[in-house]
Amino acid sequence: MKNNLIKIVGFGHYVPEKVMTNDDFAKFLETSDEWIYTRTGIKKRHISGEESTIDLAYQAAINTIKNSNYDVNKIDLIIVATITSKLRTPSVANLVQARLGINEKHVMTFDINAACSGFVYALEVASSLLLSGNYKSALVIGSEQMSSIVDWNDRSTCILFGDGAGAVILEKSNDETDKVYFYNGSKGDDKGILWIDPKVKMDGKEVYKFAVDIMPKAIQKVLEMSPYKLEDIDLIVPHQANIRIIQSVAKDMNLSMDKFLVNIDEYGNTSSASIPILLSEYKSKHKDKKRALFIGFGGGFTWGAAIMNI
Ligand code: UT7
Repeated sequence: MKNNLIKIVGFGHYVPEKVMTNDDFAKFLETSDEWIYTRTGIKKRHISGEESTIDLAYQAAINTIKNSNYDVNKIDLIIVATITSKLRTPSVANLVQARLGINEKHVMTFDINAACSGFVYALEVASSLLLSGNYKSALVIGSEQMSSIVDWNDRSTCILFGDGAGAVILEKSNDETDKVYFYNGSKGDDKGILWIDPKVKMDGKEVYKFAVDIMPKAIQKVLEMSPYKLEDIDLIVPHQANIRIIQSVAKDMNLSMDKFLVNIDEYGNTSSASIPILLSEYKSKHKDKKRALFIGFGGGFTWGAAIMNI
């Protein structure tokens, strides 16, 4: 990407109020808090009930706009990463435009399906469109109502996921330190290792192997595309699927876990929402600029790595 200067000017997220603990699962499944916590690092997750992927996306958008005191009328591109919309059309992004009251503006809206890597894919697409000069302000959202697509009788999958949404607003930057780099990719899963058809079906062990293999490789690759070394990265923001996967990446790369943002204990795996929720929580407490590396992996198979300032 030439002249690849992009800045994030707003962060926000939204999770439904209702919380489901591991003990709640033990009431209807043969499982336990001990099994779930030691195998995954998850203690609880938020579950939406009535609120759809669109509601979650809209709330995250509103919070992002409020947090950054942003003029909604400036937004001319909305991209939502999601795999859980009930509607084939219109897109979630299209409905967010309507709810934000900017239907009369020139805005391009669409959704991206790249499972848990979707948010990082959407960041690359949004950045490219901003750099093309055709758009000036991109609202990028990851929103998932995973509770609507899990099989509540399958103890090996339903305990993993949670609902929520996170968002950022991107603009072109003039600051030479705001260079962005992306390494997004995929490897077709024609064997049904992680499919949603119509509910989540997953070979957990295979996904685990894929994740611990691809994450260090993708981190290395995006670093090679940039002028930076691992030690130049302040924070790693990994997709939250399993704490053991993150620990394995840290060990593999000889890094302290302190370098990784983690909130899986509280939210479970929120698919494309996990990275923007982490970002929003972090930025609500830390205002100084940091160089971050985002790393996601997911169904497809897909992976996404990015270096951006936050
Ligand atoms: O965003 C990407 C989405 N997916 C992932 O990242 C998933 C990656 N994979 C994983 O995180 C792990 O593979 C899991 C957490 C899904 C499973 O952990 P595991 O250590 O690979 O367990 P396992 O599948 O080998 O199962 C071990 C045992 C089995 O019993 P047997 O066959 O040994 O008797 C399972 O039936 O644990 C059993 N089991 C459970 N027991 C209690 C599976 N789920 C549960 C459960 N509670 N919820």
